[in-house]
Amino acid sequence: MVLKIRDLAIHPPLALAPMVGLSHSALRTLLVQLGGVGLLFSEMLSAKRLPSENETISPGLIRVPLESPLFYQIYASESSTIEAAVDKLVELDAQGVDLNLGCPAPQLKKIGAGRFLLDRPGELVNVLRRLRKAVRLPVSVKIRIGDQPDRTRLLQTCRFLEDEGVDLITIHARLAGDKFCRRPRWELLDGLPDRLNVPVLANGGIFSVEDARRCLECTGAAGLMIGRGVVRWPWLISDIARELYCCQSPLAQYSREGLYFAFIDLLKQRFPQERRLGRLKQFTHYFASAHDFGHLLASRVQSSSSLEQAAERAGEFFRQAA
Ligand SMILES: Cc1cc2nc3c(=O)[nH]c(=O)nc-3n(C[C@H](O)[C@H](O)[C@H](O)COP(=O)(O)O)c2cc1C
Repeated sequence: MVLKIRDLAIHPPLALAPMVGLSHSALRTLLVQLGGVGLLFSEMLSAKRLPSENETISPGLIRVPLESPLFYQIYASESSTIEAAVDKLVELDAQGVDLNLGCPAPQLKKIGAGRFLLDRPGELVNVLRRLRKAVRLPVSVKIRIGDQPDRTRLLQTCRFLEDEGVDLITIHARLAGDKFCRRPRWELLDGLPDRLNVPVLANGGIFSVEDARRCLECTGAAGLMIGRGVVRWPWLISDIARELYCCQSPLAQYSREGLYFAFIDLLKQRFPQERRLGRLKQFTHYFASAHDFGHLLASRVQSSSSLEQAAERAGEFFRQAA
């Protein structure tokens, strides 16, 4: 199945979620190498700071050409920041621009961005209109269900977004106040995609091919966006692509150990020394949770003071686990 958004064809309709500290060049490259991912997202980037960032050193902007198609996600609190931010993203060969309207983090609350921009309808309209006008590329948004389990309100929000020219809507199937450990509320999306003119990606709580199948059945979404699941099992998207979309993605050729070290190599290729260990620790937090006795891997890597030490300790862990 091909998802067509403006001039862009996405196949299969499976996307890597934007995740701060995780959805960077090394993880994106790994996923492209494993196959099956149809769309990549960057972590959220400040629209205000983007124009002055240097893409050769800024961790959120480092990228190689094979990471494509890539939508850069921005968060914005003032519409006046949009044009310069979008110019920068076009310069970086963005295939699309995503606006974060879902993140409930306190840093975004302070500036009225992310989920809190929805509470400022005047400024939200300005942001969306300036975004739509500034770029011919696909414009997408990522939202949560809302503050309450209110399907009518959710439909109204989505219709408002499509009327403002948005080309794709991703819905993280949790309420604004729901913790990530809570079961996602896929049932609240049921029937919604059929009532919209733009495609919807469903997001939240997909950790297996079976979850993917059930989420698609339950929501009727045009595709899926997956976050933590691909950090735990980096070949998850490749498996879903093969099982649900008949893609030719290869069966995983890596062991978990091989994959972990392939990721470390990519960190070394993409990031300067001082940026590598923090990203390995963040990745390991999720990757280790899918492993028997993974807490041992996580704690050894968390307490490492260099990438080399972390790699050595991880090597020991995998030898003991074998
Ligand atoms: C560490 C982390 C960082 C995240 N950063 C972002 C972000 O930058 N932008 C965003 O829209 N959502 C962000 N999210 C939310 C994810 O995109 C996604 O909606 C959420 O993890 C639920 O999907 P999942 O169950 O597949 O992980 C983040 C989630 C995690 C765990």
